[in-house]
Amino acid sequence: MNTCVVGLQWGDEGKGKVVDILAEDSDVVVRYGGGSNAGHTVVIGDSRFALHLLPSGAIRESMLCVIANAVVVDPDVLIQEIDGLAQRGISLADRLFISENAHVVLDYHKREDQLREESLGKRKIGTTIRGIGPCYADKVGRSYAVRMSDFRDVAALAEKLRTILAYKNKLFAALYGAEPMDVNAVIENCKLYAQRLAPCTTDTTELLHTAIGAGRSILFEGAQGSLLDLDHGTFPYVTSSNSSSLGLPSGCGVPAKMVHKYIGVAKAYTTRVGAGPFPTELDNEIGQYIREKGHEYGTTTGRPRRCGWFDGVAAAYSIRIGSVDSVALMHLDTLTGLKQLNLCRAYEIDGQERTFFPANIDRLAKARPVYEALPGWDEDLSEATSFEALPATARTYVRRIEQIIGKPVEMIGVGPRRNQTIMKSL
Ligand code: IMP
Repeated sequence: MNTCVVGLQWGDEGKGKVVDILAEDSDVVVRYGGGSNAGHTVVIGDSRFALHLLPSGAIRESMLCVIANAVVVDPDVLIQEIDGLAQRGISLADRLFISENAHVVLDYHKREDQLREESLGKRKIGTTIRGIGPCYADKVGRSYAVRMSDFRDVAALAEKLRTILAYKNKLFAALYGAEPMDVNAVIENCKLYAQRLAPCTTDTTELLHTAIGAGRSILFEGAQGSLLDLDHGTFPYVTSSNSSSLGLPSGCGVPAKMVHKYIGVAKAYTTRVGAGPFPTELDNEIGQYIREKGHEYGTTTGRPRRCGWFDGVAAAYSIRIGSVDSVALMHLDTLTGLKQLNLCRAYEIDGQERTFFPANIDRLAKARPVYEALPGWDEDLSEATSFEALPATARTYVRRIEQIIGKPVEMIGVGPRRNQTIMKSL
């Protein structure tokens, strides 16, 4: 059984926790896209793990962990994560495999990300400044790209870096009046990265096909959310990769039909961090209530997240393009205490009701959410262990979401811990 876990909103849906739970029945966990812009949090007992590049399944020591071709690897972050887990007694020795074809994020990518965002003023995307866009741009441009396989020959890489830095420094000076970056510092860092990471670099496509052939169970972990997908999200306010499940086949070389189940993860409300359209946004005290109660501050950047009502149109779109079979609805407990909950079941665009999400932002800008009001609940949900144990109003809220999105909710999050997840029969 191969399963993909993918975010249905604009990221931060709680995928880390869902992956951690499903990892119990899996042999291999795979990150198929994105980079250290992701922030996946897993809470086990009193321990909290925040991972950016390692798949969330890495916390289970029985799992093989794969970082596939389309991931952009920041070696600094990856080494810090490996060492951080080792300090907490979790070893990745002999079980971490990084694609030799994955591209590498270096300091000049982060600098470029920052310089560009600063220069854009009001038009900025609100990126995580992790160098993600510039690294993917170098990948597409090809001539100035660095891949994990380059760490196998450090002398050749040093030569390549001299050419790249000469180009980047000219660009940064001409466009932004920026100081040049020291190529020797980048080369010295790369020597350390090579020592640590070259031994885990391999052909992960072969590894995955061999594992599938041997009947191993693979868990594919999406990063960010489907609405941040470069081709299918709210461009240009997106990330630079295919963060929907459409990125899985191209991202790791495993065909979509080899994946038996797609689980979409959504919060019981919606959040977004960074700029871009957000039809159900609550720029008021209810949004503030959700932000504080749900600790809606970015795992990667610490930025306050924008909060709003559950958007059934947006979630249904992500389900359609992502071939999603069932949904994990997270953070239901965060809504406790709100007297009335609004669910967006359609948009009104140019006087017409529509249920197909327009990803094009000019059309999305015209969308007015059509809400349905449902009663809230005051009861504490955090100890509930079954769907039946939830207050009737909470059950009605979940059932109505199922009707709007057209797929069953299979898991419900009622708190941050592993065991605060209700398994609901389909
Ligand atoms: P980038 O991926 O750093 O280039 O940022 C592009 C957009 O995607 C910005 O709005 C970010 O806030 C958003 N973004 C990137 N990664 C995540 C994530 O893991 N969660 C939520 N938003 C993200």
